[in-house]
Amino acid sequence: MSFLSEIKRRRTFGIISHPDAGKTTLTEKLLLFGGAIQEAGAVKSNKIKKGATSDFMEIERQRGISVATSVLAFEYSDKKINILDTPGHKDFAEDTFRTLTAVDSVIVVIDVAKGVEEQTEKLVEVCRMRNIPMIVFINKMDREGKDAFDLLDEVEQKLNLKVVPLSFPIGMGYDFKGIYNIWEKNINLFSGDNRKNIEETIEISDLQAPELNKIIGDRAANQLRENIELVDGIYPEFDKEAYLAGNLQPVFFGSALNNFGVRELLDCFVDIAPTPRAKQSEERLVQPEEDKFTGFVFKIHANMDPNHRDRLAFIKIVSGKFERNKPYLHVRNGKKLKFSSPNAFFAEKKEIVDVSYPGDIVGIHDTGNFKIGDTLTEGETINYKGIPSFSPEHFRYINNADPLKSKQLFKGIDQLMDEGVAQLFTLELNGRKVIGTVGALQYEVIQYRLEHEYGAKCTYENLNVYKACWVDPKNSKTDEYKEFIRVKQRFLAKDKQNQLVFLADSAFSLQMTQQTYPSIKFHYVSEFE
Ligand code: G4P
Repeated sequence: MSFLSEIKRRRTFGIISHPDAGKTTLTEKLLLFGGAIQEAGAVKSNKIKKGATSDFMEIERQRGISVATSVLAFEYSDKKINILDTPGHKDFAEDTFRTLTAVDSVIVVIDVAKGVEEQTEKLVEVCRMRNIPMIVFINKMDREGKDAFDLLDEVEQKLNLKVVPLSFPIGMGYDFKGIYNIWEKNINLFSGDNRKNIEETIEISDLQAPELNKIIGDRAANQLRENIELVDGIYPEFDKEAYLAGNLQPVFFGSALNNFGVRELLDCFVDIAPTPRAKQSEERLVQPEEDKFTGFVFKIHANMDPNHRDRLAFIKIVSGKFERNKPYLHVRNGKKLKFSSPNAFFAEKKEIVDVSYPGDIVGIHDTGNFKIGDTLTEGETINYKGIPSFSPEHFRYINNADPLKSKQLFKGIDQLMDEGVAQLFTLELNGRKVIGTVGALQYEVIQYRLEHEYGAKCTYENLNVYKACWVDPKNSKTDEYKEFIRVKQRFLAKDKQNQLVFLADSAFSLQMTQQTYPSIKFHYVSEFE
């Protein structure tokens, strides 16, 4: 197959949702359709119940480096589909944000009873900012839930999307009869026969046809006609270009658990979802069809098994072919590196591959060369943009609890930060180290990993910080800037990239500082123009 056809047949996406909406179940059903797994239950949930650290550790240990759940690839209808797994737990939201830099589109799963939930709002906002094409899947139609129109309204309002339903439910919960597929113009009957694989689909070219009454009964038939008329009246026609530009989001209804409505979703997905997209670098826009390889690291997975302490760096291929044993330039440190055993991922295994294409993810063994955001090329200096850090929510001093192991501690902190587990700030005043995280759970994870992987011990001490704001160095020559540095020294720190950060201790003090130094710009994100 030619290079171009290889690119065209790839679909790389992520599934996002609030925990419990059904992401794991849907992933599994998609893999079943792809023939990538044989039975339900093969995909392990990455859910962390009640935020217990032991749970997290256990999950991570089980996954180790050998389990390929981070990327699930399968073939369907001549397409190569790569699903990038995202952690559902909110304490790991940053990991999900980073993974979203490597997807070309997403499917958003929403629970019909719970509607739009908090985590969904945050993740969709990130996708919206990047104009990532989204398809919405309303799940658990076998249960009583919200009215379909109300829910579509809620999705539009809370997620700030413009939706167009491509399927529509016939009843719900106890009365759930099936789904009318607006996209394919057929009806899919729900028999309540759990977990069956092949559904009964009936072509309905004309909704007015009396057969419809025979199939689903008079009441449901009339209701459906009315609903579809309303849909036609309210929502725009589906427009693929608008979807691809991130301006229109098709919606499907179904029940992942019952494998219902999933095939419709998948069929439409392979039809409309984008092929690998061009990516902006600091230097220029890079097209997937370019013949020279470029790619970037979006995730680093440490092996928690103490006997195999290597890490796996996940690289999204943006352009060209990635070939085994070919030297590539690690742009940040200027070194050429060769990879003798790059891994490609499949549903239940990973394998060494000779060639990978744009859209694909390869995992390469790393002994500490990589950090998140690093770019690899054939020689050109390209730095991919778009893996910013957000201000953490929690801040604590980290102290060394075993003075004989300070080297191990620093190495451990350094590597864990490169993996993106948390952010490190070094205070300007006294050089003390502060760890910033999205959730409290990460502190325990860091402590555990420092001890088990690096043999170092640490303790924490609370630090009252409201927000970390990156200070724009644009006006750094002015007297105002110098004055700011002098007066606020106690609140200043450097991040790992040596960028200056203002650790505001309250919303009020941040506001006052902004007013006192109007020429200085403060950013909530580490990357700015
Ligand atoms: P997540 O990855 O988004 O966190 O959700 P997950 O797939 O683990 O699903 C959360 C719960 O919702 C699971 O039940 C799952 O069985 C259930 N579920 C998923 N899809 C549907 C659906 O279409 N209908 C109904 N009725 N339930 C659905 P659980 O009891 O938490 O877990 P389990 O013990 O069944 O695995």
